[in-house]
This record gives sequence, C-alpha cells and structure tokens, in this order.
Amino acid sequence: MCGIVGYIGKREAIPIVIKGLKRLEYRGYDSAGLAVLKNDKLKLVKCKGKVSDLESKLTNGNGALNQVTLGIGHTRWATHGVPNDINAHPHASNSGKLVIIHNGIIENYASIKEALISRGFSFKSDTDTEVLVNLIEDIQNAEEASLEKATRLALNQVIGAYAIAIFSKDNPNQIVIAKKGSPLVIGIGDDEFFLASDATPFLEYTKKAVYLEDNEMAVINRGEEIKVRSIKSNKPINPYIQQLKMDIESIEKGGYDHFMLKEIYEQPRSIRDSLRGRLLADKGLIRMGGVFEYREKFLNADRIIIVGCGTSWHAGLVAEYIFEELARVPVEVEYASEFRYRNPVITEKDVIIAISQSGETADTLAAIKLAKEKGATIFGICNVVGSSIARETHAGAYTHAGPEIGVASTKAFTAQVAVLSLIALKIAYEKGVIKQSYFYQLLTELDNIPAKIEKMLESDAQTRFISELFKDAHNFLYLGRGYNFPVALEGALKLKEISYIHAEGYPAAEMKHGPIALIDENMPVVVIAPKRGQYEKVVSNIQEVKARNGRVIAIVSHGDKEISAMADHVIEIEDTLEVFSPLLTTIPLQLLSYHIAVMRGCNVDQPRNLAKSVTVE
Ligand code: AGP
Repeated sequence: MCGIVGYIGKREAIPIVIKGLKRLEYRGYDSAGLAVLKNDKLKLVKCKGKVSDLESKLTNGNGALNQVTLGIGHTRWATHGVPNDINAHPHASNSGKLVIIHNGIIENYASIKEALISRGFSFKSDTDTEVLVNLIEDIQNAEEASLEKATRLALNQVIGAYAIAIFSKDNPNQIVIAKKGSPLVIGIGDDEFFLASDATPFLEYTKKAVYLEDNEMAVINRGEEIKVRSIKSNKPINPYIQQLKMDIESIEKGGYDHFMLKEIYEQPRSIRDSLRGRLLADKGLIRMGGVFEYREKFLNADRIIIVGCGTSWHAGLVAEYIFEELARVPVEVEYASEFRYRNPVITEKDVIIAISQSGETADTLAAIKLAKEKGATIFGICNVVGSSIARETHAGAYTHAGPEIGVASTKAFTAQVAVLSLIALKIAYEKGVIKQSYFYQLLTELDNIPAKIEKMLESDAQTRFISELFKDAHNFLYLGRGYNFPVALEGALKLKEISYIHAEGYPAAEMKHGPIALIDENMPVVVIAPKRGQYEKVVSNIQEVKARNGRVIAIVSHGDKEISAMADHVIEIEDTLEVFSPLLTTIPLQLLSYHIAVMRGCNVDQPRNLAKSVTVE
C-alpha cells in the first residue's frame, strides 16, 4: 500500500531516495517524506501530496541537503490517519533520536499507544507507525538495548503487517530493517545498500538483491556484510542473494503517454513471456513444473477454488469456464475478502488457486493462509517474484508480464488468463479428458494469440472515435455471455476506476431481469459479441437494447455483418476459439476506458482514491 526506500553508502542519498519514491508512487501517493542524517543532525522533511511536492519542499528553505549518504523515504496510501503533513512518514520518536518508515498496519497499535502514554510518551500524529517508533525507543531506554535488539523486541509485541526501516541519529552508519506481511527487498551494491518495497528504485545501481522473508530482520552497516536474523528466535539467517533480471527500461514509459497505455501495448510480449518455456505448441507439449509437481493434487482434487480480488477475480471467473469445459473439474471462484471470513468448508482434497498481480493483496494472502491451515494445496499465479503470496503458496506459476505500474490492471489480466489456460490444458491432458486433436488445436491457437493482439493493436482509431462520442456519459452497461461475461465485468471495472464513470457488467441474459429498465438514449451499452459462443442470443439482446433507444457499442469478430448492421458502433477483433476469446475481447475495452479517461482529463496511471496494491483489509 505504501512505498518505502532507503540508502546507506557512498553516494548522495537524497536523489536516490526521491527517484526511488517516484518509482514506487504506484503503491500510494497521499503523502511523501524523507529523513536524512547530516553532521549528526536528523533532518526530516514530509508533506501531503506527491513526491514532486516533497521535492519542491526540499528545495525551499531546507538548506543545502548534500553530503548526505544515509536516508530513508516513504510515499503513503493512508490507512490510519488522514493524508496530511503530520501523518506523513517518516516518523520520529519522542526524543527525536529515532526515525522510521513503515508499510503495513499495526493492528494492536491502540493498546500499545495507551501504555506508552501512561509511561509519558506523547504523539503528534494519528498513525500506528509513530506508536511503533516510540515503542522501540521505550524498549531501548528500558533495556539499554541496541537499536537492532530494541526493534526486534518491539516487533515481537506487534500484531500486524510491516516493512520498516529505522535508524538512530546516534549511529550514522546503520539502518535496521524488518519485514512481515509487506514486501521489502535489499539491494546490495559495492560498499552501499539500498532498501525498497520492490527492486525498481535501485535496479540502475545493482541487480544483487535479498528478498527478506516474513519475520526476518536485517541490519545494514556501512562497510560490512548484511546481517539477517529471525525476529522471533533471533537466530542468524544466511541471506539468499539473487541476481535480478528486471531492467530499468521496463519500468520507464517507453515513449507512451501513460504506463497504462504502454502496458496495453505490451500484451503481445507479456503473453509470449508468460507462455515461454511452458507452451511448446510445435511439440504438442505443456511444461509447467509447479503443476507437474502437484499433478496428483490437481488430478484428484474434489474441486478447485480460485481466490482473488478485482481484476484478478475476473481472471478467475474466466478460468472457471476454461477449467470446467476443458479439464472437467468443478471450480468455485471466490472474492478473497468474502472467502476468508465466511468460515468456508475446505478439505485436503481442495486445490486453491490464488491470483494476484502484486502478490501482496492482504485479503488474498489471508485467504490462502486460512486454506493452507485447513490442509488445502495452494497454487499461486503472481506477477511479482518473491512477493508475499508467491512465498506463501506450495507451488505456483508466475505471470512474466513485467512490472505493471498503471493502477488499472491490463497486461496482468491477460497474462493471468493465458497462464490459467495453460494450467487447465495441462490438467485436461493429464486427466485424459481432452481429444488429442483438439488439444493440439488449442495449443496452436493459444500460441497465435499474441500475434492476433498485435494485429488488433495496429490501429485504435475506431476506439478513439467512439471514446470521443461517449466520454461524457454518466453510466455504461457492459454485457457478455459465457466466457465473455467476466470480460463484461472487467471492462466495466476498467472504465469506472480510471474515468470515474459509473459502469456495470452483467451477463447479457440478465439484462431482462432488471437492468433493462436503465436503457435509454443516454445509456451506452457495450455488448461483447464474438461470433463463437452464444452469438444468436447476443443478437437478441442487442435488439432488445435497440428497441428501447439504447446506444450499442458491439465488440464483434472481424468481418461480422449481422451485428454490425444493427449496432450503433462496432469494434472488430480477430477471430479465435471461444475459449480464448477473453484474451482478445478485453483489449478494445482496455483502450476504450483508457481513451475516455484521458479525454476526461483523469489521472490514468494514478486514479483518485486507488493504489496499485491493496495490502490492507
Ligand atoms: C485492477 O484494475 C484494480 N486496480 C484492482 O481491482 C486489482 O486487480 C486488485 O486490487 C487485485 O490486485 P492484485 O491482482 O495485485 O491482487
């Protein structure tokens, strides 16, 4: 939910922290701040607003902040306390000696705060983080403990999730770091260290990284090796230093106006990358280590339960149709937030598939922890290597979509659907419930999908034209049947979350059970109507809309004549098998929402009230 960055080494810290925070703004941008140590003086600058607001605050009246080689910074998505200067991180302890940044939630902060107040502490902010830094100070004073020990003892009293970095003005050569439930990665340079919520802030400096596990803490001292230990047991841990493969270009906008547009156009590549090494169409093979390792669980599963949130939940809905049709296995799709609280019946014969782009969504993480405790097998589909959900699962398959910076998920969705299609095909093949010829046909068609998307992306003139006509609408209705009902939901979510136009997705047949009352000339109706599937039924639904003066925007297969003659506007897609149609029908809906949002002057990459990763409940 928030982004944290830190640096200790030989370079100027502030430019590194500021640039790093900008790379993490997709995680939240209500307020920003940083703390540095200069000549033993702690300098803390923070404000409501974005990193750019912090940057201008830094240059006005804060004196020369150079020759500073230790610093931490934070960009916030508010959980406790409204976004304002006081609640912005970093937070200092009462004595002013300690300063901390934190991503996560301290659930028992109120009781700790009460105890600290009774021991004479006072608080400026409403945040749980200020409570944590003063708890650490209280323990340090009482036990005459090192910062590392005081931090560890404090965290053993804390209930919640955290990724923290803390330093003391008494020690300009050390930062203490700890992680539980929120992401934290340490970049290891040549006599310098970086810390961040993901690797993008330090990729240009080093690709050597340590992803802390939950309940681990690290001490980074200038000129020394990183030391990692268990927060619970205090046992030293030998850190696994990995060589990252991401490159900095992959996170730049690459010439597009917005990350979202770049990511829409990246989909041929991101799907190819997600299929690479797994889909061997020419050999008629699918290679998925995680699925193979747990094949018995998949083959003998009573059912597959798919959990996720938002767009990931929509990908799960698409997967339900694919798994049930191809692999003949019962599938249930659950909102993670509902699943985790309704005391679900879970057995060891269940396989849970958790879908999450960020791998950090709190509800999804909690849902799989619950299922794991009840003996289910947990399989993850995440886009962030080393993310919390990825590390909580028994096995998984990463979507190699690359960093998705735009808050509205696009390439992650199609990558998720592509990987889920592979898994369903693999299980169908292993179960022997699919004809060989059809299996090979599906592999070949899936392999062709990226090229079909490339062709569709050659021009978005028609989508722009339609966007111009409907950018001022107040409501949209999205209709789809079968595999494209989840796409109707996804299209509606895309539009509402970036253009702020209210939009609803519905099964097309459901329109007659209520929503048809909404239809009039002011209600644009997007109908997903590829020629495969229940085409004739969709034709009837379009006629019902037209009979009530509704304005129909139809997503049709290339060369469609019948619907093109009755709809007000059509957007053509390449033809494909019904099972893979969501991979294509979603593309024009992504572009439609993007262009409408841009025409409405909305902040497409960072829509109001949203954050890229919802790591709180
Ligand atoms: C998608 O456009 C939304 N931004 C949001 O619904 C997102 O899909 C949801 O928060 C789940 O995120 P995750 O995939 O990272 O778990």
